Amino acid sequence: MSLLEARNITKRFAGITALDDVSLTVDRGEAVGLIGPNGAGKTTFFNCLLGMLRPDRGSVHFDGTDITRYAVHKRARLGFGRTFQRIELFGGMTVRDHLLVAERARLGTGRLWKDCLNQAKPSDEESERVERTLQLLRLDQVADRRIEALSLGRGRLVELGRALMTDPLLLLLDEPSSGLDQHETHDLVRTLHEIQRDRGTAILLVEHDIGMVQAFASRLYVLDFGTVIAEGATADVMNDDAVRRAYLGELTTTHAEEPEHTTITAPVPDDTATTATTANAGTPLLELSEVDAAYGPFRALFGVSFSVPEGKVVALLGGNGAGKTTVARVVTGLVPVTSGEVHFDGTNIAGMQPWQIAPRGVVHAPEGRSVFSSLTVDENLTLDFRRNLGRKGVSGGLERAYELFPRLGERRKQLAGTLSGGEQRMLALARVLVRPPRLLVVDELSLGLAPIIVDEVYATLQKVRETGTTMLIIEQYVGHALRIADSAVLLQHGEVVYDGPAAELGDVSERLLTAQPS
Ligand SMILES: Nc1ncnc2c1ncn2[C@@H]1O[C@H](COP(=O)(O)OP(=O)(O)OP(=O)(O)O)[C@@H](O)[C@H]1O
Ligand SMILES: [Mg+2]
Repeated sequence: MSLLEARNITKRFAGITALDDVSLTVDRGEAVGLIGPNGAGKTTFFNCLLGMLRPDRGSVHFDGTDITRYAVHKRARLGFGRTFQRIELFGGMTVRDHLLVAERARLGTGRLWKDCLNQAKPSDEESERVERTLQLLRLDQVADRRIEALSLGRGRLVELGRALMTDPLLLLLDEPSSGLDQHETHDLVRTLHEIQRDRGTAILLVEHDIGMVQAFASRLYVLDFGTVIAEGATADVMNDDAVRRAYLGELTTTHAEEPEHTTITAPVPDDTATTATTANAGTPLLELSEVDAAYGPFRALFGVSFSVPEGKVVALLGGNGAGKTTVARVVTGLVPVTSGEVHFDGTNIAGMQPWQIAPRGVVHAPEGRSVFSSLTVDENLTLDFRRNLGRKGVSGGLERAYELFPRLGERRKQLAGTLSGGEQRMLALARVLVRPPRLLVVDELSLGLAPIIVDEVYATLQKVRETGTTMLIIEQYVGHALRIADSAVLLQHGEVVYDGPAAELGDVSERLLTAQPS
């Protein structure tokens, strides 16, 4: 008998059938992947399993019990654990606190009110369990840091730790690698395998990082428009034509499975950076000179210098925490420099506010999904286009946005807050891609997007580039970024360790490129 057996699940929202007769099983201790395009119904399926949504039809059996009508908390007690696509942690609490609260909730010891008043000291047993989980996830070094001081990647691990504290029989993970770099993703797969092996936990994984799915899951289900279009052993499903067409696309590049392929090291001699910078042809539109930046006492950038010539595309590469996003924030004025200069079109913009920089033609497509949840897709776009394109430009802008992302066109009257993760990302991107600026700074464009959509968005970027837009692209999917870029800048621990043509990245390039089998 399977641990989880979902039969014929159907879920409709106004006008949309998000799930249509979906059946899926997971055995005890099994590692199963659930993949599919953006908006295919993956998160909705999780919500039906967990009782956060009530399916219109179908049943869910867990560990031999029919739980179709059970409340969320009852399912959690039975052994469901989950992490969220959009991270859900509590600001102001430390990593250790998060795990401790989950431990108390598991025991139901009735001391939660004392926790709130900070009066309940953890027992030895509680502390020990927390400690073990911290070590398993390699979070012990940051156990007493507040959540807001952690990177997105570490935050994801805290979510996983919190889910583990309840000793689940089945873990549902919704895009756990999103925001992790390739090295961290590899570590995560290893940790998940350890959890599976040592604790016998079954794991159902939703993920767009195909490399991770292949490295982790032994069996796959593929959803498209709410129906299962393929299921079976991972290797067979990955070679299925329908899956390639609907989801993977032809150009698809994936994260690596081998850590040695993903480690970004810098065997480049010190003088390379200067030679390469001067080798860049054309007048720089953007030029950073000896830029330092910090978040409070934590220094993020150390003397960063590089330039982006007018009309060219530069890929900014590096592992998580290398300082890539900080560079983007410095350029757009969100983080002040502590020393150094940032020249845009001949003017030093260091020290200017974001609202002074943006009108000069610098647009930042940030890594998140900055949309207004309570407005519809149409309203979100109209708001933006009215400001940037003027009243007369709105209808042309909308037309162009829906041409770029037809899925958004089908969802124009839907509230942005109810869009799938990837659809929200498309909405955020449509806002910036419709009106190409002079300098486009793109941060983690592929985050949360299905491989086939990533291919399409890069094709769009090619077109945007042909209009003369200069770009600085920050990307984990290195293969994609390098294919479009004229040159690359590699950051490590806040310092530039390479700046020059992608072809001359040498050993580093070898490693980066082999991490991306086409
Ligand atoms: N409350 C809702 N009202 C209307 N439509 C909804 C609602 N919730 C989800 N949908 C729609 O149902 C479809 C399935 O959404 P879901 O979030 O399950 O997709 P997903 O497979 O998780 O996609 P992604 O990979 O982008 O996260 C989407 O098209 C979404 O817009
Ligand atoms: Mg989702």
